[in-house]
Amino acid sequence: MNCTYRPATSNDIEGMHRVRKAVLENRLTSNKIREEHYLPYLEEQGRSWVALNDAGEVLGFAAGNRKTGNIWALFVHPDAEGRGIGKQLHDMMIAWLFSTGLSELNLSTGIHTRAEKFYEHAGWSLVKIEDSEAFFVLRHLD
Ligand SMILES: CC(C)(COP(=O)(O)OP(=O)(O)OC[C@H]1O[C@@H](n2cnc3c(N)ncnc32)[C@H](O)[C@@H]1OP(=O)(O)O)[C@@H](O)C(=O)NCCC(=O)NCCS
Repeated sequence: MNCTYRPATSNDIEGMHRVRKAVLENRLTSNKIREEHYLPYLEEQGRSWVALNDAGEVLGFAAGNRKTGNIWALFVHPDAEGRGIGKQLHDMMIAWLFSTGLSELNLSTGIHTRAEKFYEHAGWSLVKIEDSEAFFVLRHLD
């Protein structure tokens, strides 16, 4: 399957939210995250990137906050997992966040999930586990 990557626009939010609702781990447990919550991560607080198939459907997306260094989202549709899409989105996002001058990034994810292993594999350091959430940091290598 071909996959293209580009910065997200407001037109992608519907597709991003569809992926967010489709994942099988770190699932939404309420309606707290709605489509309007993606908007600040397009420009004001950070940036988002999407992975698209040939039909232009969103297969995955990532969103990072340049003010706090927090990874707000990294989600790949379950049907598209294990093909390097998550890693590609991750690498684009962290390269941009570090390019803004941040020296450390942070995130949390559910313990015993595929994502926990993914971040360990990508070089993130576990700093604590609290309320079934694993907290990681990634420091910029000078
Ligand atoms: C976590 C997630 C983003 C990974 O995306 P993906 O596209 O399946 O991952 P990739 O195929 O890019 O894998 C990238 C690398 O991580 C490794 N990896 C992925 N899952 C792994 C696991 N469970 N254990 C060890 N390594 C793993 C892959 O082997 C690959 O290694 P490589 O770069 O050396 O080849 C995806 O599974 C997902 O969206 N999960 C559900 C939602 C979620 O939990 N998101 C995180 C919220 S904080």
